[in-house]
Amino acid sequence: MNTGFSAGEERWRSRLGTLRQVVRQELVRRQLLSHLPDSPPRRVLDIGCGQGTQALLLARRGHHVTGLDSSPQLLGDFRTALADEPETVRDRVQLLHGSAEDLTRLFEPAGFDVVLCHGVLMYFPSPEPLLDAIAHVMATGGLLSLLVRNGDALAMRPGLLGDWSSATHAFDSDTYLNRLGLRARADHLEPLTSALAQRHIHLDQWYGVRIFTDTADANAPVPDEETLNALLDAEDRAGSTDPYRRVASLLHLVAHRTDTSPAG
Ligand SMILES: C[S@@+](CC[C@H](N)C(=O)[O-])C[C@H]1O[C@@H](n2cnc3c(N)ncnc32)[C@H](O)[C@@H]1O
Repeated sequence: MNTGFSAGEERWRSRLGTLRQVVRQELVRRQLLSHLPDSPPRRVLDIGCGQGTQALLLARRGHHVTGLDSSPQLLGDFRTALADEPETVRDRVQLLHGSAEDLTRLFEPAGFDVVLCHGVLMYFPSPEPLLDAIAHVMATGGLLSLLVRNGDALAMRPGLLGDWSSATHAFDSDTYLNRLGLRARADHLEPLTSALAQRHIHLDQWYGVRIFTDTADANAPVPDEETLNALLDAEDRAGSTDPYRRVASLLHLVAHRTDTSPAG
């Protein structure tokens, strides 16, 4: 199973503990949890769960999580992490090797209360098929947490790094060369919000993720705890404040599914 992501998989794995990745995961965690109480436990689907960072956090909090991924290697990493968890947590996680393209065949309609899709949509040539599939698996009232590359601010990273020709090119492009060395696709907030609404998934809140640390070296380590916490608080604040969140590297959309019936 070869996806647009596979060529960058080893780099992704080797950088999971670096500053940029820790900021990404911690910001998404904070933002998501502000919309998702621990009780009652929900049925969660993590599409492209990878190593399972967020899925595992939700399972620890009592939710029942299904992780779907096309990479046997990353699912193996997730299984390794699970092996260190108490049995109660392990029992709440189901892992499935498969493609997001097959979601509607793999799962019944409306089978999940929460759908996570983090860092996956950029590897799809167009967003519509995956958005259709997400709408298919979400229950009425269900929550979507969608993390995408911010197409409204693609010039920021090359510009701040002093790569002027790439910055100029980025104003007229919806694709970009990411830090994994892969050409990927970015989404714009407003069209993405409309595309979700057409599928009865309505935006509750959106956040920026990685604003001040996006240009850090790809291998930069996390600083000492006190500095890291101060940095995370600054990123957190900027991620929910205009105009900062508008130029974040990633956009985190949190939305809910309404009824599709005419009265809904
Ligand atoms: C950038 S990683 C993100 C992993 C995880 N969601 C996170 O945020 O930490 C992208 C993940 O999506 C998976 N992926 C990419 N395309 C996929 C597809 N078409 N179907 C299933 N998984 C896919 C990759 O194998 C990888 O685990």
